[in-house]
Amino acid sequence: MGQVPLFTLAGFLLLYPGILVAAPAEDVRLSVRERFWHITDLHLDATYHLADDPAKVCLSSKGAPAIKAGIYGDFLCDSPYSLIQSAFAHMSHVTPQTDFIIWTGDSPPHVPAGELSTDMVIQLISNMSETIRDHFPRLPVFPALGNHDYWPQDQMPSSTNAIYQAAAKLWAPWLQAEALHTLREGGFYSQLARPGLRVVSLNTILYYGPDKATANASDPAGQYQWLQGTLERAAQNLEKVFIIAHVPVGYLPFTRGITAVRKHHNERLVSIFRKYSHVIQGHFYGHTHRDSLMVLLDEEGKPLNSIFVSPAVTPIKSVTEPYSNNPAFRMCFYDASDFTLLDIWQYYLNLTEANERQRADWRREYVMTEAFGLEDLQPQSLLQLALSFKLPQANSFDKYFSHFMVSYDDRIRCEKDCKLSQVCAVLHLDHKAYSECVRGRSVQDSFALL
Ligand SMILES: *[C@@H]1O[C@H](CO)[C@@H](O)[C@H](O)[C@H]1NC(C)=O
Ligand SMILES: *[C@@H]1O[C@H](CO)[C@@H](O)[C@H](O)[C@H]1NC(C)=O
Ligand SMILES: *[C@@H]1O[C@H](CO)[C@@H](O)[C@H](O)[C@H]1NC(C)=O
Ligand SMILES: [Zn+2]
Ligand SMILES: [Zn+2]
Repeated sequence: MGQVPLFTLAGFLLLYPGILVAAPAEDVRLSVRERFWHITDLHLDATYHLADDPAKVCLSSKGAPAIKAGIYGDFLCDSPYSLIQSAFAHMSHVTPQTDFIIWTGDSPPHVPAGELSTDMVIQLISNMSETIRDHFPRLPVFPALGNHDYWPQDQMPSSTNAIYQAAAKLWAPWLQAEALHTLREGGFYSQLARPGLRVVSLNTILYYGPDKATANASDPAGQYQWLQGTLERAAQNLEKVFIIAHVPVGYLPFTRGITAVRKHHNERLVSIFRKYSHVIQGHFYGHTHRDSLMVLLDEEGKPLNSIFVSPAVTPIKSVTEPYSNNPAFRMCFYDASDFTLLDIWQYYLNLTEANERQRADWRREYVMTEAFGLEDLQPQSLLQLALSFKLPQANSFDKYFSHFMVSYDDRIRCEKDCKLSQVCAVLHLDHKAYSECVRGRSVQDSFALL
């Protein structure tokens, strides 16, 4: 293949941009590029409508006036159905032939508990599941439950209940018997996505701070024991694993010193992921609604795992937040022979423009390898990117932060304390390393120049 004239290969790549990737010159192998969609945090607000009174546009604005409301939504509201439909319509238009879809939860809107009920939450999960099936009737979908996929929100229990049972029923067309069994009991499962590649869908709501039902449990729903057994068996069977879940591991990038799950659960997850990092090829999360990444390092700073948090479809922010995210979803590319991650194509809708033109022109926001000059998305490449954030003359961090908000507003900058929190969250997932990073104590992490 080293003899293939360059223009032919380039022409081929133009015609079939998703199929092949040229290997480095010294390596004559052409690896087969496969892809899947990742979509998250749809948060359907069925009350959304263009009312005369802007305070009455959507329940999810909680009385705040949605003065820029248009047919595709408003930055103070959760998603109208038209926005969600336009997202899936664009996904199936771009490529009807992906391998599978990862869908990391949160279907109901951000409204007071009194506006919802267990039945309504099930209805919303059902509506989203049907909407996905309508657009992708033949594609396997691997869902994970979000903190809003329960009533009252966040309160997921350690044992079977109406919601886990409803999810198992709704997702039966996508999942096999063994997966449906653990889903029904604890809200988690694993299944082979293709020979050699296992999707492990965790219920990280069980570890989430606001979940009172699991507050005193050391291993809620026995998920840790199950996870270790699952990763152990995957290692023995020479499988590779994609971890998917709603609430991510690690520290929240937009604040200081707060882990997404409870602190001790974060430490435990980090230690399990380190132990099985040779089996795990990628992590895919949602929940923060923003676009971020993390690289899991070992105690010596060696990169082990690549972790991706996908931005949300919902554009919602609270009145007091300075910025939000444009609606988004992404396509992930991986190598079909060893399941390493090659690239991410991030798609977005310019919500302001879509409302002005009354047309939803979803576009590609960026290609991760091109945006940051990376070879692939393996842990070593992400570490290299994260270290470049610290170079005062590099613009990689500004670009990263603009992507973080899904191109919401380039005039909003993240510097000094804001940047330190972001960069420490990318590089350090455990308490010890993160604390040293934000205190600027370790030599590698001194931020004298920020
Ligand atoms: C989902 O909800 C929307 C908005 O209420 C509605 O228009 C649509 O018909 C529902 N679809 C399904 C499949 O339930
Ligand atoms: C957890 O422990 C606290 C303090 O002992 C207790 O008040 C609370 O009821 C317990 N919660 C559950 C869900 O068991
Ligand atoms: C989105 O659209 C608005 C209105 O047309 C425009 O001002 C803004 O620059 C656009 N944003 C991006 C990232 O293209
Ligand atoms: Zn959410
Ligand atoms: Zn969430």
